[in-house]
Amino acid sequence: MKKVIFIILLWTNSIATELPPLHHPVGISPPSEMQLPNEFRLDKDGLLQCTTCHGIKDIAEIPFDEVDVKADNFFNGGPYQQLTDLCYHCHKKSSQRLNIHKMYESGKIDKKNCDYCHVETPTPDDPPKKLEFRLPKEKICWGCHLKTPHLNALTHNRKVSDKMLKIIKKSEQKHKVNLPLSTDNKVICSTCHTTHEIGVLSSNSASGKQVLGGDVSKGAIYTPHVWNEVYQADKKGRLAKLDFNHKLDYQRLEQEVLLRLSAKNGTLCRACHQFKD
Ligand code: HEC
Ligand code: HEC
Ligand code: HEC
Ligand code: HEC
Ligand code: HEC
Ligand code: HEC
Repeated sequence: MKKVIFIILLWTNSIATELPPLHHPVGISPPSEMQLPNEFRLDKDGLLQCTTCHGIKDIAEIPFDEVDVKADNFFNGGPYQQLTDLCYHCHKKSSQRLNIHKMYESGKIDKKNCDYCHVETPTPDDPPKKLEFRLPKEKICWGCHLKTPHLNALTHNRKVSDKMLKIIKKSEQKHKVNLPLSTDNKVICSTCHTTHEIGVLSSNSASGKQVLGGDVSKGAIYTPHVWNEVYQADKKGRLAKLDFNHKLDYQRLEQEVLLRLSAKNGTLCRACHQFKD
């Protein structure tokens, strides 16, 4: 009897230590209110197993650095445009993640949220000269968001040229807006995005200026675009060659949220890029 228990312990322990760092837990049972889709099969004891989420046969037997993470079946039901789309198969979208950008509670600013990012909550009317963050400001969105939340986010994480820097300074004056770069002049998430809900920072200040109208609870809203089919057909060949496993949709941006300037009408892009007429 003792021997059997020992073997089981050893086995679970080896799984625990062999999982990649920060990996999702396995061997747990879903609570009754969690509805798993049919293709996410539990093991015979009703517990999460490797193949609940991964479509790769015997994934536990393969050394982790040899697993083809780009394979279509790396995730069941994949490939996913965003990793969170996988999560939402099991976890409820609304109740799981704290939307840090919802900064009002019954009409009042809820200061609880502020110290998620700020070491001390700055007063909007009189902010200190040097703000202190819990993480460097170039990394503060990662963790909650991927480094690649959307196309072009990563390709923008570059140092701006001297020429572009001048254009940015001019645009900041012209639009009375703040477009903060990293200390080494790289474009970061906060260059294009504000993280503050409308009204938290004064809309008369350059740092508080943002695109109006959007609702942070709803997020950015996209609608289908009639050109999508043409776009898909056009990209198909090239994407196949690139070994790129995301589905790309050509959509119309209907409602913007948490942006410093509008991308929809091109103002944001033209604040840095100059295009010939
Ligand atoms: C609840 C879903 C889920 C289950 C169950 C699951 N995984 Fe994963 N696995 C993930 C997710 C999500 C990632 C991607 C993590 C990321 O990219 O941040 C991942 C990534 C991996 C990777 C790639 C790691 C890397 O760093 O590239 C390996 C290997 C892996 N899992 C093996 C396993 C094994 C072995 C099991 C069973 C013991 C298992 N997984 C069970 C969700 C799951
Ligand atoms: C196949 C279903 C399934 C998928 C897919 C899935 N989860 Fe889970 N997750 C569970 C279950 C079951 C639990 C354990 C029960 C619970 O905590 O509600 C859990 C627990 C968690 C926990 C709490 C872990 C802890 O240590 O307490 C986090 C955080 C989490 N999941 C995040 C994610 C993220 C992020 C993704 C997507 C990358 C994801 N899950 C995908 C089923 C899933
Ligand atoms: C997700 C991270 C995050 C959260 C949460 C957050 N902030 Fe900020 N805050 C920043 C970043 C990054 C900056 C610097 C860049 C900028 O101006 O947006 C900043 C700048 C500020 C400034 C200085 C603006 C200026 O004029 O220079 C004030 C004031 C401020 N935040 C107040 C708040 C308050 C109040 C809350 C809570 C209701 C809050 N912040 C929550 C990330 C955050
Ligand atoms: C504590 C976690 C957290 C941090 C830190 C955080 N966010 Fe978010 N963010 C969320 C959640 C939750 C949502 C709601 C939508 C979702 O679940 O993806 C969201 C939504 C957004 C949206 C709108 C998304 C949509 O659905 O259309 C943008 C834009 C955004 N965040 C940008 C940022 C930027 C830029 C930073 C860093 C300065 C940041 N966030 C930091 C959790 C976070
Ligand atoms: C060059 C400008 C730019 C940069 C840099 C940038 N974004 Fe965006 N982001 C946009 C635009 C434009 C949208 C679409 C409209 C909107 O948010 O209202 C968007 C949308 C989003 C959304 C909503 C989801 C979606 O697909 O619409 C999230 C979340 C987000 N960004 C997070 C981030 C994070 C995190 C970073 C840094 C890793 C980042 N962004 C860097 C311009 C940018
Ligand atoms: C804050 C300045 C800034 C803003 C705003 C901005 N860009 Fe950029 N963009 C850059 C920088 C820096 C690069 C890196 C290459 C370079 O130096 O030209 C870049 C590169 C690009 C590239 C080439 C990417 C690649 O694959 O190399 C495209 C396409 C692009 N931007 C489109 C846009 C669009 C569309 C918008 C508006 C939604 C936008 N940019 C907003 C600064 C900006």
